[in-house]
Amino acid sequence: MYWLDWLDWMYFFKWYFILIQIVLIFITAIMFSSENLAKEIRGKKILLVTAHPDDEVMFFTPFLNYFRGENITLLCLSNGNSAGLGKIREKELEKAAKMFDIKGLEIIDKENLQDGMDKNWQTNEIITTVMKVVESFQPNAIITFDIAGVSRHPNHVAIRRAIAFLKTKHSKVVKDVGFWELESTGLIRKYIGFADVLFSSRSQYAVLSPSPILAWKAMSTHHSQFVWYRKLFVVFSRYIYMNTFRKF
Ligand SMILES: *[C@@H]1O[C@H](CO)[C@@H](O)[C@H](O)[C@H]1NC(C)=O
Ligand SMILES: [Zn+2]
Repeated sequence: MYWLDWLDWMYFFKWYFILIQIVLIFITAIMFSSENLAKEIRGKKILLVTAHPDDEVMFFTPFLNYFRGENITLLCLSNGNSAGLGKIREKELEKAAKMFDIKGLEIIDKENLQDGMDKNWQTNEIITTVMKVVESFQPNAIITFDIAGVSRHPNHVAIRRAIAFLKTKHSKVVKDVGFWELESTGLIRKYIGFADVLFSSRSQYAVLSPSPILAWKAMSTHHSQFVWYRKLFVVFSRYIYMNTFRKF
């Protein structure tokens, strides 16, 4: 017994192709958003500020891939020593940075900026640390988390809060610097992978990365961290496929 005769097949294909067309429209919209962002930061000096080794892969892979070759400095405010693996994780981060052709890498290991959900990073400590790099690298753009910090990790949140203060406190020094935050999404969008193009296409500044393979490879350099739930993250999270940004 055949469940589908050819009319059913035609019906199926019709909807299938309509769906593909809709997805293509959303992808095109995102490509325009990438151009918006590229117009503002391409050829300039970009400072990416993260909290832990592996943040750059877990959350910023589409960005780093899209702007590969640009003059990017990654400032990672801790060496991720919460389980005593700090020295190992520094080496892992160096490898990941090389994969993305990141030009400058600064890994901070300060007593007051240690990795941990229970570690309270003081705003002034972050400002001082970031300003040191700002003064030497003189970036045109600073990219970091938003106030929800993707996962609400207190260290991520503290960075965004501090950089907003930095912006007012050192307004003269950073007057020509553009500030961008990585947009955090709700739980459902966070884990629908590439399907989030449907929502991300509304963003004014977005970048796309069509395959999780690159992030998988980059996470493999963070060997000590690449446990099963981070593997699931690399396959299912929209942050592996796309980044959307807001100015702040
Ligand atoms: C990136 O910018 C820094 C700081 O101005 C500069 O010293 C360095 O040569 C630049 N690197 C590249 C690859 O353009
Ligand atoms: Zn982190």
